[in-house]
This record gives sequence, structure tokens and C-alpha cells, in this order.
Amino acid sequence: MSSPGWGRRRGPRVVVTAGPTREYVDPVRFLSNESSGRMGFAIARAAARAGCRTTLISGPVTLETPGGVRRVDVVSAREMLAAVREAFEGADALYMCAAVADWRPARRLAGKWRAKDGGSRRVSLELVRNPDILATVARRKGERLVVGFALETGSGLRRARAKMARKGADYIVLNDSSALNARRASVRILGRDGSRRELADQGKDRIARALVKLCVER
Ligand code: CTP
Repeated sequence: MSSPGWGRRRGPRVVVTAGPTREYVDPVRFLSNESSGRMGFAIARAAARAGCRTTLISGPVTLETPGGVRRVDVVSAREMLAAVREAFEGADALYMCAAVADWRPARRLAGKWRAKDGGSRRVSLELVRNPDILATVARRKGERLVVGFALETGSGLRRARAKMARKGADYIVLNDSSALNARRASVRILGRDGSRRELADQGKDRIARALVKLCVER
């Protein structure tokens, strides 16, 4: 099956997620994070350039869709889960680069939240856990490649390896927080086989090419 946007590409089918998710409290307020989407978009661009049939599932960002990439826009974590499930069906690899919000408000109000009404100086917002997209789809991944990302302060190697095992990923790309919203990053690519590769202070395009190789060389 081909799709508009893939052109004549016949390479592996790759799914990439990017950007933040938004979890709405009311029609105009949401919980989210600083993710710019640059790393995920760079991976999608590198994958398309390597001939992969690439689907980019993106949260709200202001980046242009790379050429030759099929893009699906989503807002919340639950929407992203549905889109990833559908795209990963029949795909060869998933790069779960999105900064998915771990929590969402227990209720989304239909009208604006009037928090100041009633004169209280303190209010609470009840949050519930979002599904873990990576762990959910990795459970039935079979031979398909699944790459997760982790942001750790400090060394974080042990935590990242534990995350990889817990979520069932083949690789975890370990970032430090300087990667957020930046053009360059230092990453460590940890493999389930115990491998470890370090890319220090590199442009995100270069890191993206190294990550796409994991799929293309398989
Ligand atoms: N992820 C996901 N679904 C979530 C949360 C995270 O698929 N609900 C994915 C991310 O896309 C990323 C990896 O899981 O690939 C990150 O795991 P997470 O446990 O959120 O790690 P950190 O972002 O490093 O944050 P923390 O350790 O604070 O949870």
C-alpha cells in the first residue's frame, strides 16, 4: 500500500511521534510541556531521506512537515495512542520521541474554569494517569523495532535501562534536559543487547540519521 506523501519510497515503514501532548482543563487551558518537536521531525526527515515510508504523528508544534512524510496531527495522549496503534499496524519501526503528558485532568470542563469564584486562595486539580503509549504498543511488537526516549537529570543510565526493560523497547535514547527546545543535543543510545553509544553535542539532524540507521540496517 502506498500513501499520498510517500512518493516512490519502498523502504521500511517507520512511525515517528513528536512534540508535546496537551491535556485540556477547560476549552482554553491545558497542561503540556516545553517539547518543540524538533528531534522527532528530524528523525522523520532522515527516515524519508533514507527511503522509509514515514508517518509522523505530532502533537501541537509550529514546524513544517518534512518532504515525503505523511503527517497525522493529534492533541492529547489518548489521541496519540489511537493514532500510533493504527500506524504501527503493518509498520516496521516506531520512534516514540513525543513528550507525552503523563497525567491529564480527571475532568475537562465544558465552560471556562472560574477558579477565582468563591474567593478561595487554594484549589486542587485532580489528575489521572494517561496510558503509556510506548509500553502499550511494545507489548505486541514482535520483531518490530521500538525506540523510546528518556529525559534524565544527572547520569540516569540505570534509570534509563530500567525504563527500557519496563516498557519493552529495543533502544532508549537518553537525553539530558538541555535537549529540550534546543537545536543540538548530547544523547546516549542504549540497546537492549547492552550496547551503548554516545553522541555528544551534535545537531539533531545528525542524531536523527544515526537513529534511522538502527532501522535501515536491520
Ligand atoms: N511515553 C509514552 N507514553 C506516556 C509517557 C511516555 O509513550 N504516557 C514514552 C515517551 O514518548 C518516551 C518514553 O516513554 O519514549 C519516556 O518515558 P517516561 O517514563 O515518560 O520518561 P521521561 O520522559 O524520562 O520522564 P519520567 O522519568 O519523569 O517519567
